[in-house]
Amino acid sequence: MKDFNHKHLIGIKDLSAEDINLVFETADNFKEVINRPIKKVPTLRDTTIANIFFENSTRTRVSFELAEKRLSADVVNFSSSSSSVSKGETLIDTVKNILSMKVDMVVMRHPSPGACVFLSKHIDANIINAGDGTHEHPTQALLDAFSIREKLGDVKGKKIAIVGDITHSRVAISNIYCLKKLGAKVKLCGPPTLIPKHIESLGVEVDYNLDNVVKWADVVNMLRIQMERQDIAYFPSLREYSMQYGLTQERVERSGKELIIMHPGPINRGVEITSEVADSKNAIILNQVENGVAIRMAVLYLLAGDK
Ligand code: CP
Repeated sequence: MKDFNHKHLIGIKDLSAEDINLVFETADNFKEVINRPIKKVPTLRDTTIANIFFENSTRTRVSFELAEKRLSADVVNFSSSSSSVSKGETLIDTVKNILSMKVDMVVMRHPSPGACVFLSKHIDANIINAGDGTHEHPTQALLDAFSIREKLGDVKGKKIAIVGDITHSRVAISNIYCLKKLGAKVKLCGPPTLIPKHIESLGVEVDYNLDNVVKWADVVNMLRIQMERQDIAYFPSLREYSMQYGLTQERVERSGKELIIMHPGPINRGVEITSEVADSKNAIILNQVENGVAIRMAVLYLLAGDK
């Protein structure tokens, strides 16, 4: 029996631990479905979903589209680069025009933090945030925590390190909310210039030494440097960044344990993580991507329940 009392998924901040566990239990069932020879269920047969992407994406866009198709929804895809946005049309006008074609749910990625909240106040469809600037990326955090649960049995009490450009990362913020709500211990690591002041108020610890953090952690989630969101130089060079904060096989081996390595993608090989580590047996990067489809099916199914 589902009881997910949300119309939209804007951020993990709005969810309770019970909501997150309900998404996981629902995703368990959908993961079983998508591993069957016939991967499709008729659940959203009468639902039309628009995927509206104002920013580039590979994993999230493809994963949502697959999730929607596995649930038998009708799907329309919109990307700003090939649309009338380039002729000056506003966000509200763009979305209202799409909705007038009887769309029930909108999955949106946008470079501006708060774009999904803004939209939810102006239209009647369910809104799912597929990443809004530096604000939140809720389905990424759900699939990350789901992947940790799958690998370690539970998230509660586990030591999770998030390493890299925390300041510009919606993945980091959504992960912090999600992991803390599920009872994990979270440590952040990166250059002092890329870790927000007072971030400890979210219940996390900060350590600027990657070797210490790797020794402490059960799981290390490596983040990309978000060059596209950086207005000034936050560190001297990529080479120096890589020496201080890049995850190498030597660092993993020095930890002396079976560390689990995650990355939300896209990877900058040789910067935050070496190819040797990214492609190693300890890395669950492609499991994260696989789990993204089941998690997004669960989110779509639970939100559609309000209709
Ligand atoms: N993890 C993630 O959001 O990847 P994309 O930008 O390719 O969607």
